[in-house]
Amino acid sequence: MMVLDATCRKWLQDRFGKDVRFDEPMSRHTSLKVGGPADAFVTPAALEDLQTLIRWSRQAKLPFLVIGGGTNLLVKDAGIAGIVVALTKCLNQISKTGSRGGGVTVRAMAGARLHKLCAFAIAAGLKGMNFALGIPGTVGGAIMMNAGTSHGWMQDVLEEITLLAPAGETRTVAKERLDFSYRKLSLKNTNANGGPGYPIVIDGLFYLQPSDGAKLRQEADEILNRRRATQPTHLPSAGCFFKNPASGKSAGELIDLAGLKGKKIGGALISPQHANFIVNSGGASAGDMLALMETARNTVLKLFNIELEPEVKIVGR
Ligand code: EPU
Repeated sequence: MMVLDATCRKWLQDRFGKDVRFDEPMSRHTSLKVGGPADAFVTPAALEDLQTLIRWSRQAKLPFLVIGGGTNLLVKDAGIAGIVVALTKCLNQISKTGSRGGGVTVRAMAGARLHKLCAFAIAAGLKGMNFALGIPGTVGGAIMMNAGTSHGWMQDVLEEITLLAPAGETRTVAKERLDFSYRKLSLKNTNANGGPGYPIVIDGLFYLQPSDGAKLRQEADEILNRRRATQPTHLPSAGCFFKNPASGKSAGELIDLAGLKGKKIGGALISPQHANFIVNSGGASAGDMLALMETARNTVLKLFNIELEPEVKIVGR
């Protein structure tokens, strides 16, 4: 089904020029390197361009999907109907904004890479972001996913966020009104929901503590080395594929115990290094990934009576 007609394509071309591509393979924009074409793929150069695009899409009743770094996304082979918006060209500044009660606030825009925020904090001698080292993706994606590791979560350091509401205006939401849970930020009560695709995170304000830069750097090296030793960081993946069950064994341990390390369907492979990573060992399709995901789920369900839920967002037609 094609949603984007010639008139819409012309409007997008005239308004966005080199910042829009049509029938753009999403395999080029996802860390798994799979996924069919988006009807249009737009990288707005400034906030005003994003606002214009959002208002126009709403009027034209076109579906849109805002993506971060595409690092937690499995796009189906038939691609995505409508418009995909990536914020990595705009909204990528990070700056100190003030200090209060012994801490320092840092504002990071949604399109900035999370590792840039971690590096910024270390360079400024600010403690609090090291938990996020090695997590791929953008600040906006990490906020929406409440990204985290055993060392901490986004909810530990976020003070407030700015959202783009459906009419195109921005709105600030304080931490108290943000509903965080495991790998999820729920924004139901922010009056900015407005249907599929909303709200859009524009930035986050982080509250960090002054600390010793050398100590932070040493801790960072240890965290990154541990990650490299236990995870297949050298192959295309979307990080951990399944959420960990609320209690008991981790998803990786369950898939490992099921004997599925090294299991391969097409180019999709359950990492022999860490069983909660489904990697693209070369030439995988989204179909291969989904088939391997189902194999892992069904096997774990049969053996342990535990239903694994993907952490990776599956999108597309
Ligand atoms: N384990 C196995 N076999 C495996 C993998 C793990 O037996 O193949 C065992 C480990 O030995 C350990 C336990 O399972 O006893 C937990 O494993 P690990 O320490 O690797 O942590 P995890 O729960 O699998 C979580 C996050 C990761 C994060 C690491 C380190 C989730 C779903 N995953 O993994 O996050 O990097 O902790 O902090 O919460 C991600 O979200 O993309 C991600 C990779």
